[in-house]
Amino acid sequence: MAADRASGRLEPPPSDEAKISEQKRAAAVAAAELIEDGMRVGLGTGTTVAHLLPAIAERALAGLRCVATSPTTELAARELGLMVVELASLEELDIAIDGADQIDEQGWLIKGGGGAHTREKIVAAAAARFVVIASADKAVPVLTAPVPLELLAFGVEHTLRAVAPARLRGVPPSPDGGLIADYLGPVEDPRMLSATLSAVPGVVEHGLFAPEMVSDILIAQDGVVVRRGGAKPARSS
Ligand code: 5RP
Repeated sequence: MAADRASGRLEPPPSDEAKISEQKRAAAVAAAELIEDGMRVGLGTGTTVAHLLPAIAERALAGLRCVATSPTTELAARELGLMVVELASLEELDIAIDGADQIDEQGWLIKGGGGAHTREKIVAAAAARFVVIASADKAVPVLTAPVPLELLAFGVEHTLRAVAPARLRGVPPSPDGGLIADYLGPVEDPRMLSATLSAVPGVVEHGLFAPEMVSDILIAQDGVVVRRGGAKPARSS
């Protein structure tokens, strides 16, 4: 696989790109069907979500209010005629839908390939139901580095040493001014690593999402397979 210059992410060979894009679209269309009139909807960030936005707009639902996790998603949603509001204006969200970089067999996620994982985690946590949409290549037996990080700019050299091995990604800061970096060490125990990273001063947020945050995972291959996440059923009812 070749590395994308801007993001540092591994890109699939061109022959696989069309298949993966079609899987992302299929998962996104299936997730759009979960949205009903009047819902408050969290919109993730990334190429899978780029398929979700037109699928939602095409349904022409009444009274939707959407919260975007990035300026890119906000712009695209507005251009499609979706109403985008501030998260602060809503007490909670009915549903949030987002992509993922890796999904392991226990339902742990790595997110933040686009550097938006802090806002994505806040929006997912604010939602009664968090639905993950993905192409089949995102399902992995075990998670592996990189794990995206958002770091406070102040003292970032010290923070990087505290979470070593890690390096800055060299992309623009997040809309909240955080520096995007990647942890590059072992990810054998995601729960322990999640706690370790969260405990380091200067780590704003990391890209490990625990299974209990996730209500449903829609993975597209030939059809769309729905896996239940680890969230209590109340989150998805
Ligand atoms: C952005 C994310 C994305 O959801 C994740 O990187 C997957 O991206 P894509 O849908 O483009 O494969 O976490 O911060």
